[in-house]
Amino acid sequence: MNIQSEIATVLEVNLDLPKETIEQLLEKPKFAHLGDLAFPCFTLAKSMRKAPQLIAEEIAEKIESPLIDHVEVVSGYINIFFHQPLVAAKVMEEILEQKEHYGDFPQDKGVMTIDLSSPNIAKPFSMGHLRSTVIGNALGLIAEKSGYTPIRINHLGDWGTQFGKLIVAYKRWGKEEEVRKNPIKELLKLYVLFHEKAEEDPLLNEEGRKWFNYLEQGNEEATELWKWFRKESLEEFNKIYQLLGISFDSNNGEAFFNDKMEAVVDLLKEKQLLVESEGAQVVELEDFSPCLIKKSDGATLYATRDLAAAIYRQENYRFVKSLYVVGNEQTLHFKQLFQVLEKMGYDWAKGMAHIPFGMMLKDGKKMSTRKGKVVLLEEVLQAAIELAEKNIEEKNPLLEMKEEVAKQVGTGAIIFHDLKHYRLTDIEFSLEDMLKFEGETGPYIQYTHARACSLLRKGQFSHPATIADLQWDDVSFPIVKILMDFPISVEKAIEHYDPSEIAKYVIDLAKAFNKYYAHVQILEENDEKEARLSLVYAVTLVLKEGLRLLGISAPEAM
Ligand code: ARG
Repeated sequence: MNIQSEIATVLEVNLDLPKETIEQLLEKPKFAHLGDLAFPCFTLAKSMRKAPQLIAEEIAEKIESPLIDHVEVVSGYINIFFHQPLVAAKVMEEILEQKEHYGDFPQDKGVMTIDLSSPNIAKPFSMGHLRSTVIGNALGLIAEKSGYTPIRINHLGDWGTQFGKLIVAYKRWGKEEEVRKNPIKELLKLYVLFHEKAEEDPLLNEEGRKWFNYLEQGNEEATELWKWFRKESLEEFNKIYQLLGISFDSNNGEAFFNDKMEAVVDLLKEKQLLVESEGAQVVELEDFSPCLIKKSDGATLYATRDLAAAIYRQENYRFVKSLYVVGNEQTLHFKQLFQVLEKMGYDWAKGMAHIPFGMMLKDGKKMSTRKGKVVLLEEVLQAAIELAEKNIEEKNPLLEMKEEVAKQVGTGAIIFHDLKHYRLTDIEFSLEDMLKFEGETGPYIQYTHARACSLLRKGQFSHPATIADLQWDDVSFPIVKILMDFPISVEKAIEHYDPSEIAKYVIDLAKAFNKYYAHVQILEENDEKEARLSLVYAVTLVLKEGLRLLGISAPEAM
């Protein structure tokens, strides 16, 4: 049991409130002189018909626990001061015993499917897809720690009218060798060219639609071209996934559902949900505009494929939760999707959630594939890795496994830059910011971890000692308090589906540790050395685990 909940139990005895409410009410004061935890008595005032200050005083007198050194009553708050040696011993004992499992949720919560990354074939892997990939991957790791079994699904955009357009563009202006040499760039060029030409000649769009129909009907030429575009694109995407160290449990994209959509359409008919509207087939919804299922020319749509995919996922994985990590511009699409499923009578649709995130902007504007305004992610990643290599050459040229470490640091910078922002904020794209290694960055956290590991090596730390004899003060005790909060931070991250909880957590821990490092002679030979190193060891464990939850490696030297 964590300290916060133990304190809540202590308070519960003297209060007429459920423990959960008490836990929610407990605050962390911003300043040390206001205690380690504070309980506000304002909400009680009404039901008890007493002034908060009075209530606080009465309760304060009765509070008793070995974990509490003393309490102070200030303006309606009970400020609780921990018994530092005891609290520290308890926290440390838990971490040293559980190691990387510290903060794990012990019960099985069932399957959580996570739809993430999902780039579109024949288009560049955009910054938006990077966001989905790293947020989704981190959510998978956090979900796993929280008791779920995550299933990561890369719902590739490998079907749709755009393939008709691409086939037309390729047949008209494409060159095979060019595409082979540089598939994504070349296919993007053709796609952009198509849209330019189509502005002058609208018949081109008609032709594109025709070719998509051929593709849906299994026409050989169309299918061969599609397969080739898909294969070339996937190879490029895989380079990025490899760099990021991310893999998927399924790569079933939109095309996978091609032969599963008729069944869904039939089911909708059977349930009398399908109506005709201007030649198209739609499902009408109470709260949103109708969900388009089939176009007038019989072509299926993005939504049709998502319906088929959702049903397939439930049948295959029996998920309790199903997340879609997709930009917030698709909010309506997911609202419609979930409502159609509910209308179909699927109770499990309640476990589905769209996890939107803000856009990556360039000069305050959305980056658009159609106009070719995109930044190529692979180039960004390579630039970060090169910068990390350069840093290593300058600062630590004798480092072992330089290349591997440079990769970990370069990608760590990019991933952390994304995850430290609250998921829904728009981020202005800045290569310079992404490549910063100082301040609140991935490399800073990695560096802090490596520095702590180096202390353990230099101090020949072999196994954790008791920390009972450590003197606690305001550079060491804050570390304990932050360590104590790790499980809470994991809980919040999964509750809000927001990895930035963890990113902010590791920043706080790294800062507190660096302050300790600056003020204390950790390696000094005296009675407390082993205890100090044990604290350092606990910090390395939690920093490493925190970074792992974000999908970032923690090299032991850099
Ligand atoms: N391919 C889509 C895009 O790039 C994202 C797909 C998200 N997943 C889904 N099941 N709809 O916009």
